[in-house]
Amino acid sequence: MKKILILNGPNLNMLGKREPELYGHQTLKDIEKLCADTARRYQMKIDFRQSNHEGELVTWIQNMMGKVDGIIINAAAYTHTSLAIHDALKLHQIPIVEVHLTNPKERESFRHHSYIEPLAAICFAGLKSEGYVKALEFLHNFKKA
Ligand code: DQA
Repeated sequence: MKKILILNGPNLNMLGKREPELYGHQTLKDIEKLCADTARRYQMKIDFRQSNHEGELVTWIQNMMGKVDGIIINAAAYTHTSLAIHDALKLHQIPIVEVHLTNPKERESFRHHSYIEPLAAICFAGLKSEGYVKALEFLHNFKKA
């Protein structure tokens, strides 16, 4: 059974209340349930987490070395700023999937650069919570070269 770490960065705990015109009305709990239902369908195990703290995300990524088969990450604002998260992800030899609810490339220019992008096997952006479903599907179908 594949084990997948799903990481969510800062302010994603506020989904539902946070700019619903952009991010939609679903809460992070709703997205976690969607991921759990999808994972069950594909017989995968998920560990779904959120933090507002860069260092905590880095530590979680480090501690998962050798323990998971894939990482799905919506690093939120840290996508555009965090070399530390980039370096931690680089420790892994497993597929990394970048997810965003909105499409940052179609928003303000300060959201156009991603520190996750060079390490990601694929990115799902602008699909709201469906991006997490697509990410799990991708990892389910992923075969080592
Ligand atoms: C986001 C996009 C980021 O630019 C932003 O800082 C977020 C959420 C998204 O899911 O669309 O917090 O990652």
